[in-house]
Amino acid sequence: MSFPFPFLIDQYQRRHTSLRVSVTDACNIRCKYCMPEKVNGFLPTERLLDFDSIVKIVTVLGRAGIDKVRLTGGEPLMRPDLPRLVGMLSRISGIRQLSLTTNGMMLSESIKALVDSGLTHVNISLDTLREPAFRQITRRDGVDRVLRGIEAALNSPLRVRLNALVMRGINLDDVIPLVRFAREQGVVIRFIEFMPLDADRAWSEPQVVSGQELRQMVEQEFGTLKRCPSTDPSQPSRDFQFADGSGGIGFIDPVSEPFCKDCNRLRLTADGKFRNCLFGRQEWDVRGPTKLGASDAEIYKIASDCVLAKFPSHGISDSGFSPPERAMYQIGG
Ligand code: 5AD
Ligand code: SF4
Repeated sequence: MSFPFPFLIDQYQRRHTSLRVSVTDACNIRCKYCMPEKVNGFLPTERLLDFDSIVKIVTVLGRAGIDKVRLTGGEPLMRPDLPRLVGMLSRISGIRQLSLTTNGMMLSESIKALVDSGLTHVNISLDTLREPAFRQITRRDGVDRVLRGIEAALNSPLRVRLNALVMRGINLDDVIPLVRFAREQGVVIRFIEFMPLDADRAWSEPQVVSGQELRQMVEQEFGTLKRCPSTDPSQPSRDFQFADGSGGIGFIDPVSEPFCKDCNRLRLTADGKFRNCLFGRQEWDVRGPTKLGASDAEIYKIASDCVLAKFPSHGISDSGFSPPERAMYQIGG
Protein backbone atom coordinates (compact mmCIF):
# COMPACT_ATOMS: atom_id res chain seq x y z
CA MET A 1 0.00 0.00 0.00
CA SER A 2 1.53 3.31 -1.04
CA PHE A 3 1.16 6.34 1.22
CA PRO A 4 -1.80 8.66 0.63
CA PHE A 5 -1.69 12.20 -0.74
CA PRO A 6 -3.74 14.96 0.91
CA PHE A 7 -7.32 15.20 -0.28
CA LEU A 8 -7.96 17.49 -3.23
CA ILE A 9 -9.75 20.31 -1.39
CA ASP A 10 -10.28 23.64 -3.11
CA GLN A 11 -10.43 27.16 -1.65
CA TYR A 12 -14.14 26.77 -0.94
CA GLN A 13 -13.71 23.56 1.05
CA ARG A 14 -15.01 21.31 -1.71
CA ARG A 15 -13.35 17.90 -1.54
CA HIS A 16 -12.88 16.33 -4.96
CA THR A 17 -13.70 12.63 -5.07
CA SER A 18 -14.93 12.19 -8.63
CA LEU A 19 -12.91 12.18 -11.84
CA ARG A 20 -14.35 12.32 -15.34
CA VAL A 21 -11.95 10.99 -17.92
CA SER A 22 -12.63 11.76 -21.55
CA VAL A 23 -11.05 9.03 -23.68
CA THR A 24 -11.71 10.54 -27.11
CA ASP A 25 -13.31 13.58 -28.70
CA ALA A 26 -14.56 11.44 -31.59
CA CYS A 27 -18.21 10.56 -31.93
CA ASN A 28 -20.34 8.62 -34.37
CA ILE A 29 -23.28 11.03 -34.16
CA ARG A 30 -23.49 14.84 -34.09
CA CYS A 31 -25.89 15.98 -31.37
CA LYS A 32 -26.79 19.62 -31.94
CA TYR A 33 -26.30 20.52 -28.29
CA CYS A 34 -22.73 19.30 -28.40
CA MET A 35 -21.05 18.97 -31.78
CA PRO A 36 -20.93 20.94 -35.01
CA GLU A 37 -22.40 19.43 -38.17
CA LYS A 38 -18.93 19.25 -39.72
CA VAL A 39 -15.87 18.56 -37.64
CA ASN A 40 -12.40 19.66 -38.68
CA GLY A 41 -10.85 16.34 -37.66
CA PHE A 42 -10.67 14.72 -34.28
CA LEU A 43 -7.56 14.47 -32.15
CA PRO A 44 -4.96 12.20 -33.76
CA THR A 45 -4.05 9.11 -31.74
CA GLU A 46 -0.62 10.48 -30.86
CA ARG A 47 -2.20 13.40 -28.99
CA LEU A 48 -4.51 11.22 -26.89
CA LEU A 49 -3.51 10.14 -23.41
CA ASP A 50 -2.44 6.51 -23.74
CA PHE A 51 -3.88 3.87 -21.41
CA ASP A 52 -0.74 3.60 -19.29
CA SER A 53 -0.74 7.35 -18.67
CA ILE A 54 -4.44 7.32 -17.74
CA VAL A 55 -3.81 4.49 -15.30
CA LYS A 56 -0.81 6.28 -13.80
CA ILE A 57 -2.79 9.49 -13.29
CA VAL A 58 -5.84 7.71 -11.86
CA THR A 59 -3.61 5.73 -9.50
CA VAL A 60 -2.14 8.95 -8.11
CA LEU A 61 -5.60 10.52 -7.75
CA GLY A 62 -6.90 7.36 -6.08
CA ARG A 63 -4.31 8.01 -3.39
CA ALA A 64 -5.74 11.55 -2.99
CA GLY A 65 -9.29 10.46 -2.33
CA ILE A 66 -10.75 10.11 -5.82
CA ASP A 67 -13.02 7.07 -5.61
CA LYS A 68 -15.30 7.45 -8.62
CA VAL A 69 -14.19 7.44 -12.23
CA ARG A 70 -16.51 8.09 -15.16
CA LEU A 71 -15.38 7.53 -18.73
CA THR A 72 -16.78 10.03 -21.22
CA GLY A 73 -16.07 11.34 -24.69
CA GLY A 74 -16.97 12.27 -27.41
CA GLU A 75 -18.33 8.76 -27.51
CA PRO A 76 -16.06 6.66 -25.30
CA LEU A 77 -16.82 3.44 -27.18
CA MET A 78 -15.15 5.01 -30.25
CA ARG A 79 -11.84 4.55 -28.44
CA PRO A 80 -10.40 1.25 -29.64
CA ASP A 81 -10.02 -1.37 -26.93
CA LEU A 82 -11.98 0.53 -24.26
CA PRO A 83 -12.76 -2.63 -22.22
CA ARG A 84 -9.03 -3.13 -21.75
CA LEU A 85 -8.78 0.32 -20.17
CA VAL A 86 -11.79 -0.48 -17.97
CA GLY A 87 -9.99 -3.62 -16.80
CA MET A 88 -6.84 -1.65 -15.99
CA LEU A 89 -8.78 1.01 -14.06
CA SER A 90 -10.88 -1.52 -12.16
CA ARG A 91 -7.73 -2.88 -10.55
CA ILE A 92 -6.66 0.48 -9.08
CA SER A 93 -7.08 0.54 -5.34
CA GLY A 94 -9.52 3.13 -4.00
CA ILE A 95 -11.67 3.28 -7.14
CA ARG A 96 -15.02 1.86 -6.09
CA GLN A 97 -17.22 3.08 -8.91
CA LEU A 98 -16.33 2.89 -12.58
CA SER A 99 -18.94 4.30 -14.94
CA LEU A 100 -19.43 5.03 -18.59
CA THR A 101 -21.47 7.78 -20.28
CA THR A 102 -22.41 6.66 -23.77
CA ASN A 103 -24.80 7.42 -26.60
CA GLY A 104 -25.59 3.69 -26.64
CA MET A 105 -25.13 3.20 -30.39
CA MET A 106 -22.32 0.68 -29.97
CA LEU A 107 -23.23 -0.63 -26.55
CA SER A 108 -24.91 -3.93 -27.34
CA GLU A 109 -21.73 -5.16 -29.05
CA SER A 110 -19.43 -4.30 -26.18
CA ILE A 111 -21.55 -4.76 -23.08
CA LYS A 112 -20.23 -8.21 -22.21
CA ALA A 113 -16.59 -7.15 -22.48
CA LEU A 114 -17.28 -4.05 -20.37
CA VAL A 115 -19.01 -6.02 -17.63
CA ASP A 116 -16.30 -8.67 -17.63
CA SER A 117 -13.67 -5.92 -17.31
CA GLY A 118 -15.24 -4.47 -14.16
CA LEU A 119 -17.49 -1.62 -15.28
CA THR A 120 -20.15 -0.90 -12.60
CA HIS A 121 -22.46 1.81 -14.01
CA VAL A 122 -23.61 3.07 -17.39
CA ASN A 123 -25.49 6.26 -18.33
CA ILE A 124 -27.10 6.16 -21.75
CA SER A 125 -28.29 9.27 -23.58
CA LEU A 126 -31.83 9.09 -24.91
CA ASP A 127 -33.53 12.32 -25.99
CA THR A 128 -36.33 10.85 -28.09
CA LEU A 129 -37.85 7.54 -29.14
CA ARG A 130 -38.79 8.81 -32.60
CA GLU A 131 -36.45 8.36 -35.54
CA PRO A 132 -37.24 11.72 -37.22
CA ALA A 133 -36.52 13.60 -33.98
CA PHE A 134 -33.41 11.48 -33.41
CA ARG A 135 -32.23 12.46 -36.88
CA GLN A 136 -32.97 16.11 -36.20
CA ILE A 137 -31.05 16.09 -32.92
CA THR A 138 -28.12 13.85 -33.81
CA ARG A 139 -27.95 14.45 -37.60
CA ARG A 140 -27.66 10.67 -37.95
CA ASP A 141 -29.97 7.62 -38.08
CA GLY A 142 -30.19 4.92 -35.49
CA VAL A 143 -32.47 5.30 -32.48
CA ASP A 144 -33.09 1.54 -32.86
CA ARG A 145 -29.40 0.92 -32.17
CA VAL A 146 -29.61 3.02 -29.01
CA LEU A 147 -32.67 1.06 -27.89
CA ARG A 148 -30.80 -2.19 -28.49
CA GLY A 149 -27.95 -0.81 -26.38
CA ILE A 150 -30.36 0.07 -23.58
CA GLU A 151 -31.89 -3.40 -23.71
CA ALA A 152 -28.45 -5.01 -23.51
CA ALA A 153 -27.50 -2.82 -20.55
CA LEU A 154 -30.75 -3.62 -18.73
CA ASN A 155 -30.08 -7.33 -19.21
CA SER A 156 -26.61 -6.95 -17.70
CA PRO A 157 -25.57 -6.55 -14.07
CA LEU A 158 -24.67 -2.88 -14.63
CA ARG A 159 -26.54 -0.08 -12.86
CA VAL A 160 -28.22 1.76 -15.72
CA ARG A 161 -29.59 5.29 -16.02
CA LEU A 162 -30.99 7.21 -18.96
CA ASN A 163 -30.02 10.85 -19.60
CA ALA A 164 -32.31 13.08 -21.60
CA LEU A 165 -31.70 16.61 -22.82
CA VAL A 166 -34.70 18.63 -23.92
CA MET A 167 -34.46 21.63 -26.24
CA ARG A 168 -37.50 23.80 -26.72
CA GLY A 169 -38.80 23.56 -30.26
CA ILE A 170 -37.11 20.20 -30.80
CA ASN A 171 -38.09 17.46 -28.38
CA LEU A 172 -40.42 18.86 -25.75
CA ASP A 173 -43.15 16.51 -27.03
CA ASP A 174 -40.88 13.58 -26.30
CA VAL A 175 -40.79 14.12 -22.55
CA ILE A 176 -43.91 12.13 -21.63
CA PRO A 177 -43.14 9.21 -23.98
CA LEU A 178 -39.58 9.08 -22.63
CA VAL A 179 -40.80 9.00 -19.03
CA ARG A 180 -43.37 6.33 -19.89
CA PHE A 181 -40.67 4.26 -21.61
CA ALA A 182 -38.35 4.54 -18.61
CA ARG A 183 -41.13 3.50 -16.23
CA GLU A 184 -42.00 0.50 -18.38
CA GLN A 185 -38.36 -0.53 -18.52
CA GLY A 186 -37.88 0.02 -14.80
CA VAL A 187 -34.98 2.39 -15.35
CA VAL A 188 -34.30 5.80 -13.83
CA ILE A 189 -34.38 8.71 -16.28
CA ARG A 190 -32.72 12.04 -15.63
CA PHE A 191 -33.34 15.26 -17.48
CA ILE A 192 -30.40 17.59 -17.81
CA GLU A 193 -30.79 21.24 -18.75
CA PHE A 194 -29.22 22.43 -21.98
CA MET A 195 -25.99 24.28 -21.17
CA PRO A 196 -24.07 26.73 -23.39
CA LEU A 197 -21.53 24.10 -24.46
CA ASP A 198 -22.68 23.43 -28.02
CA ALA A 199 -20.02 23.80 -30.69
CA ASP A 200 -22.41 25.83 -32.87
CA ARG A 201 -22.77 28.46 -30.15
CA ALA A 202 -26.49 28.47 -30.88
CA TRP A 203 -27.47 28.13 -27.21
CA SER A 204 -29.94 30.70 -25.97
CA GLU A 205 -31.78 30.87 -22.69
CA PRO A 206 -35.29 30.51 -24.22
CA GLN A 207 -34.30 27.10 -25.63
CA VAL A 208 -33.54 25.81 -22.15
CA VAL A 209 -36.42 23.86 -20.66
CA SER A 210 -35.95 24.12 -16.92
CA GLY A 211 -36.19 21.19 -14.57
CA GLN A 212 -39.12 22.88 -12.91
CA GLU A 213 -41.08 23.12 -16.15
CA LEU A 214 -40.31 19.49 -16.95
CA ARG A 215 -41.41 18.41 -13.51
CA GLN A 216 -44.74 20.17 -13.89
CA MET A 217 -45.31 18.44 -17.23
CA VAL A 218 -44.47 15.07 -15.74
CA GLU A 219 -46.68 15.65 -12.70
CA GLN A 220 -49.65 16.53 -14.89
CA GLU A 221 -49.38 13.18 -16.56
CA PHE A 222 -48.16 10.91 -13.77
CA GLY A 223 -49.27 12.63 -10.56
CA THR A 224 -47.28 14.41 -7.88
CA LEU A 225 -43.67 13.29 -7.63
CA LYS A 226 -42.22 12.43 -4.24
CA ARG A 227 -38.77 13.80 -3.48
CA CYS A 228 -36.19 11.14 -2.54
CA PRO A 229 -33.92 12.33 0.24
CA SER A 230 -30.46 12.97 -1.15
CA THR A 231 -27.74 10.92 0.48
CA ASP A 232 -24.89 12.67 -1.26
CA PRO A 233 -24.84 16.50 -1.46
CA SER A 234 -22.41 16.47 -4.40
CA GLN A 235 -24.94 14.54 -6.47
CA PRO A 236 -26.27 17.11 -8.95
CA SER A 237 -29.56 15.36 -9.60
CA ARG A 238 -32.74 16.05 -7.64
CA ASP A 239 -34.40 12.65 -7.57
CA PHE A 240 -38.06 11.75 -7.24
CA GLN A 241 -40.31 8.71 -7.06
CA PHE A 242 -43.60 8.50 -8.90
CA ALA A 243 -46.82 8.92 -6.92
CA ASP A 244 -47.45 5.16 -7.00
CA GLY A 245 -44.05 4.59 -5.35
CA SER A 246 -42.56 3.11 -8.51
CA GLY A 247 -39.64 4.12 -10.64
CA GLY A 248 -37.32 7.05 -10.42
CA ILE A 249 -36.86 10.33 -12.18
CA GLY A 250 -34.26 13.02 -11.67
CA PHE A 251 -33.63 16.59 -12.74
CA ILE A 252 -30.17 18.07 -13.22
CA ASP A 253 -30.58 21.84 -13.37
CA PRO A 254 -27.17 23.47 -13.87
CA VAL A 255 -28.69 26.53 -15.57
CA SER A 256 -31.76 27.31 -13.45
CA GLU A 257 -30.39 26.03 -10.12
CA PRO A 258 -26.61 25.75 -10.18
CA PHE A 259 -25.13 23.16 -7.84
CA CYS A 260 -21.54 24.41 -7.97
CA LYS A 261 -21.27 24.83 -4.22
CA ASP A 262 -21.23 21.06 -3.76
CA CYS A 263 -19.22 20.19 -6.86
CA ASN A 264 -16.69 17.41 -6.28
CA ARG A 265 -15.67 16.81 -9.90
CA LEU A 266 -12.34 17.07 -11.60
CA ARG A 267 -11.97 16.45 -15.34
CA LEU A 268 -9.29 15.04 -17.57
CA THR A 269 -9.59 15.77 -21.30
CA ALA A 270 -8.76 13.23 -23.98
CA ASP A 271 -5.56 15.15 -24.78
CA GLY A 272 -4.45 15.05 -21.17
CA LYS A 273 -5.41 18.37 -19.56
CA PHE A 274 -6.95 18.70 -16.14
CA ARG A 275 -9.96 21.03 -15.94
CA ASN A 276 -11.71 22.02 -12.74
CA CYS A 277 -15.01 22.98 -14.39
CA LEU A 278 -16.92 22.50 -17.65
CA PHE A 279 -16.90 26.28 -17.93
CA GLY A 280 -13.30 26.80 -16.83
CA ARG A 281 -10.96 28.86 -18.98
CA GLN A 282 -7.75 27.31 -17.77
CA GLU A 283 -6.26 23.85 -18.29
CA TRP A 284 -3.36 22.05 -16.66
CA ASP A 285 -1.40 19.78 -18.96
CA VAL A 286 -0.58 16.47 -17.35
CA ARG A 287 0.08 14.43 -20.49
CA GLY A 288 3.40 16.09 -21.31
CA PRO A 289 4.86 15.69 -17.81
CA THR A 290 3.56 12.11 -17.52
CA LYS A 291 5.17 11.17 -20.85
CA LEU A 292 8.44 12.68 -19.61
CA GLY A 293 8.32 10.43 -16.54
CA ALA A 294 6.89 12.80 -13.90
CA SER A 295 6.86 11.38 -10.38
CA ASP A 296 3.61 10.63 -8.56
CA ALA A 297 4.17 13.73 -6.43
CA GLU A 298 4.58 15.87 -9.55
CA ILE A 299 1.34 14.51 -11.04
CA TYR A 300 -0.45 15.09 -7.75
CA LYS A 301 0.82 18.70 -7.70
CA ILE A 302 -0.65 19.41 -11.14
CA ALA A 303 -4.06 18.08 -10.05
CA SER A 304 -3.88 19.98 -6.80
CA ASP A 305 -2.95 23.27 -8.56
CA CYS A 306 -5.94 22.78 -10.85
CA VAL A 307 -8.33 22.15 -7.94
CA LEU A 308 -6.99 25.13 -5.97
CA ALA A 309 -7.72 27.46 -8.89
CA LYS A 310 -11.38 26.44 -9.09
CA PHE A 311 -13.91 29.27 -9.10
CA PRO A 312 -16.88 29.20 -6.72
CA SER A 313 -19.39 28.81 -9.58
CA HIS A 314 -19.78 28.65 -13.35
CA GLY A 315 -21.42 32.08 -13.75
CA ILE A 316 -23.68 31.11 -16.69
CA SER A 317 -26.18 33.77 -15.62
CA ASP A 318 -23.58 36.51 -15.01
CA SER A 319 -23.63 39.47 -17.38
CA GLY A 320 -20.05 38.97 -18.59
CA PHE A 321 -20.45 35.24 -19.22
CA SER A 322 -19.03 33.72 -22.38
CA PRO A 323 -18.86 29.99 -23.04
CA PRO A 324 -15.53 28.15 -22.89
CA GLU A 325 -13.48 27.73 -26.05
CA ARG A 326 -13.98 23.99 -26.11
CA ALA A 327 -17.41 22.46 -26.79
CA MET A 328 -18.83 19.60 -24.75
CA TYR A 329 -17.35 16.81 -26.90
CA GLN A 330 -13.88 18.30 -26.50
CA ILE A 331 -14.16 18.54 -22.72
CA GLY A 332 -16.02 15.37 -21.83
CA GLY A 333 -19.69 15.24 -20.79
N1 5AD B 1 -25.74 20.78 -22.20
C1 5AD B 1 -26.03 19.83 -21.28
N2 5AD B 1 -25.64 18.55 -21.39
C2 5AD B 1 -24.95 18.22 -22.49
N3 5AD B 1 -24.47 17.05 -22.88
C3 5AD B 1 -23.85 17.23 -24.06
N4 5AD B 1 -23.92 18.51 -24.44
C4 5AD B 1 -24.62 19.16 -23.49
C5 5AD B 1 -25.04 20.49 -23.31
N5 5AD B 1 -24.77 21.44 -24.20
C6 5AD B 1 -24.66 15.85 -22.11
C7 5AD B 1 -25.89 15.13 -22.60
C8 5AD B 1 -25.37 13.90 -23.20
C9 5AD B 1 -24.08 13.71 -22.44
C10 5AD B 1 -23.08 12.90 -23.16
O1 5AD B 1 -23.57 15.01 -22.27
O2 5AD B 1 -26.65 14.76 -21.48
O3 5AD B 1 -26.27 12.85 -22.98
FE1 SF4 C 1 -21.61 12.51 -29.44
FE2 SF4 C 1 -22.29 12.67 -26.89
FE3 SF4 C 1 -21.77 14.89 -28.17
FE4 SF4 C 1 -23.97 13.49 -28.80
S1 SF4 C 1 -23.51 14.50 -26.81
S2 SF4 C 1 -22.48 14.34 -30.25
S3 SF4 C 1 -23.32 11.45 -28.49
S4 SF4 C 1 -20.32 13.29 -27.75
